[in-house]
Amino acid sequence: MKILGIETSCDETSAAVIAVDNNNKISVLSNVVSTSLLLHSKTGGIIPDVAAREQVKFIIPVIEKAMSDANCSDKEIDSIAVTFGPGLIGSLLVGVETAKTLSLIWDKPIIPVNHLLGHIYANFIEEQKIEFPAIALIVSGGHTDLLLIKNHGKISWLGGTRDDAAGEAYDKIGRLLNLPYPAGPVIEELAKKGDPKAFNFPRPMIGSGDFDFSFSGLKASVAREIESQGKLDEKTIADICASTQDAIIGVINRKTLKAAKKYKAKSILIGGGVAANQKLRDEFEREIKKSELDTKVFYPPKNLCTDNGAMIAAAAVFNNKKVPWQEITANPELYFD
Ligand code: KG4
Ligand code: ZN
Repeated sequence: MKILGIETSCDETSAAVIAVDNNNKISVLSNVVSTSLLLHSKTGGIIPDVAAREQVKFIIPVIEKAMSDANCSDKEIDSIAVTFGPGLIGSLLVGVETAKTLSLIWDKPIIPVNHLLGHIYANFIEEQKIEFPAIALIVSGGHTDLLLIKNHGKISWLGGTRDDAAGEAYDKIGRLLNLPYPAGPVIEELAKKGDPKAFNFPRPMIGSGDFDFSFSGLKASVAREIESQGKLDEKTIADICASTQDAIIGVINRKTLKAAKKYKAKSILIGGGVAANQKLRDEFEREIKKSELDTKVFYPPKNLCTDNGAMIAAAAVFNNKKVPWQEITANPELYFD
């Protein structure tokens, strides 16, 4: 079975073709990503209008390339998976309307996919050892959520951020330090030369009894420190990066392991742009080893952590609700029930 996956929720235009065998093993035949990030890095954040216009420019060439890279004709495609939310409405509409048109002219069903589930299902690509119950952690630019997954389609939301998402915290603190957008990978790199204990930044809500997060207090505290330092030298910037990262990862880690313990999770599935962070991965491995948990942590390959069409197609394999093209609409506010 072959699925075409289309992702256009934000500033990436992506299409992928995946192949699924009889045991639901997923292989990526092509995964084309075009991004308008460079345009946004000049403005320090995403301008929705600009992102939507770029989506319109790229969507057809990206789908054409995904089909030709996979050496695949439309006859071989079984269904079209497309992100229908959450995201920016202008960007989402480009993918959804294109998927509807293809569905009509190719006569193929559409599988609407929640973008956030796509991030989690990136873990299932080429990976068949994931067992349930699982705790899923989404750490992206727009979201920080903890989910309990008892089985495919049996998902409950445990908690999420009350203000900034983890990736947003990286990006906003990056802006305070005059770093390019998106700042996550830049802060990760600079942090390698810094001391994570140089500044004692707050770890908001680390001890709260729930599974919620909050990162705006951390951002405010870093802003005050930068203000009080005056002109920053290289070492201080590296120390601020390392201490910020230590605080963010510390909270994420503690809350996720707490959820894994409470729900006796066999797997922890991490997804979203921040899941590409090696320090986050290393800390999870260290903490799991230290704990008595019988839980395995999974991360997608790094190139599949940020937005891409392959993860959307992968989510469709296990959440296979086909709909006729007339019944799908983009929903920027889509969340978990
Ligand atoms: O999942 P994603 O591509 O887009 C959303 O759906 O939001 O995530 C983008 C976010 C950005 O905030 C970016 O700074 C962050 O992921 N990010 C990272 C790393 N790579 C991307 N954060 C920390 N370390 C990284 N290596
Ligand atoms: Zn995303």
